[in-house]
Amino acid sequence: MNDTVLVTGGAGYIGSHTTLALLEANYDVVVLDNLSNSSAESLRRVAQICGRKPEFVQGDIRDTTLLNDLFSRRTFTAVLHFAGLKAVGESVRKPMDYYDNNVVGSMCLCQAMARAEVFWLAFSSSATVYGEPTRMPICEDYPTNMPTNPYGRSKLMVERMLSDLCASDARWSIALLRYFNPIGAHSSGMIGEDPNGIPNNLLPYISQVAIGKIEQLPVYGGDYPTIDGTGVRDYIHVQDLADGHLKALHGIRSRSGVHIWNLGTGIGYSVLQMIHAFEQASGRPVPYQLVPRRAGDIAECWADPGKAARELGWQARRGLQEMMQDTWRWQSANPQGYAH
Ligand code: NAD
Ligand code: UFG
Repeated sequence: MNDTVLVTGGAGYIGSHTTLALLEANYDVVVLDNLSNSSAESLRRVAQICGRKPEFVQGDIRDTTLLNDLFSRRTFTAVLHFAGLKAVGESVRKPMDYYDNNVVGSMCLCQAMARAEVFWLAFSSSATVYGEPTRMPICEDYPTNMPTNPYGRSKLMVERMLSDLCASDARWSIALLRYFNPIGAHSSGMIGEDPNGIPNNLLPYISQVAIGKIEQLPVYGGDYPTIDGTGVRDYIHVQDLADGHLKALHGIRSRSGVHIWNLGTGIGYSVLQMIHAFEQASGRPVPYQLVPRRAGDIAECWADPGKAARELGWQARRGLQEMMQDTWRWQSANPQGYAH
């Protein structure tokens, strides 16, 4: 019998790519998602790509009755926990929604897991927990400075809660996966990132400018102490990130306690480098305008991914050109995202 993994937030951007990777690796998958920021169409496409379907449960991770029913109906080997809210600006306007979904949600999930005696968990954390580090690249043992916004603080709170849980009971084995900047789409062009409204993140914004949905890209700040004055980030292909979750699943099976792994490439690119790479991959111009810095942004941020390489045998394999080509294939084939 195959191992069954519960994937919370599995209809979303990273969750759908990871669900596909799990199914392709012969796991059975149950997705729990309230569809607050996604569409069940992503899972239909996952099934089309690999010929296997995840079970889909529409519901909320804060719904204790639903969780108890689910954990008593199915036997899970592990839980990959993607569900949560992720928009930095929105988190400033609606902090309680963020603490409720991200912190209370994670707490409800862990309580249900403990009741069902499922102790293997991988949590979607973020490089945002490092705040504004003084040295690059960023290693896992760098201090986690208090992030500048409620979204980041909610991630750090969950990390600390999960560490406390592991310290209290040796049966837990938990991976805190600190993602850098996930971009790209599955190479089929059938699943990808489908943000609601005007995108917050760079790549979805660039691709919507390239297809003519938005007139031009605001480039937030041209006066950072970086190669060309624009912000530098570690962009990682979402399929590499999905593979990192499979490796982390193996990693937590053979360890107990809490383990932190950066999931990044170790390479930083500036906003202008990203624009030019996208123009090359798509053959479309991406008009942009330099505007003042965005509040809360840092100049640069890239990972030291060595710990994941040493301990999990994982490293990102896909380069910038592939990330751009895959983003463009998804965007041009699905100009309205999953709506068509
Ligand atoms: P996403 O919004 O596409 O996916 C999150 C999914 O969770 C969505 O399908 C949404 O409907 C679901 N969801 C939200 N609240 C829920 C709840 N209370 N109950 C059930 N389902 C709920 O986002 P993503 O980019 O795939 O991110 C996945 C995870 O990775 C998030 O936790 C996010 O904070 C984290 N992360 C993302 C990035 C990034 O840049 N995309 C970077 C670092 C960390
Ligand atoms: N940028 C622009 N114009 C835009 C959008 C972004 O110039 O329209 C710039 C930003 O200033 C930054 C870079 O592009 O220099 C990347 O910005 P993103 O918004 O795509 O990503 P961030 O690094 O700001 O944040 C992302 C996630 C956060 C997460 C953080 C650290 O959105 O959730 O990475 O992991 F916390």
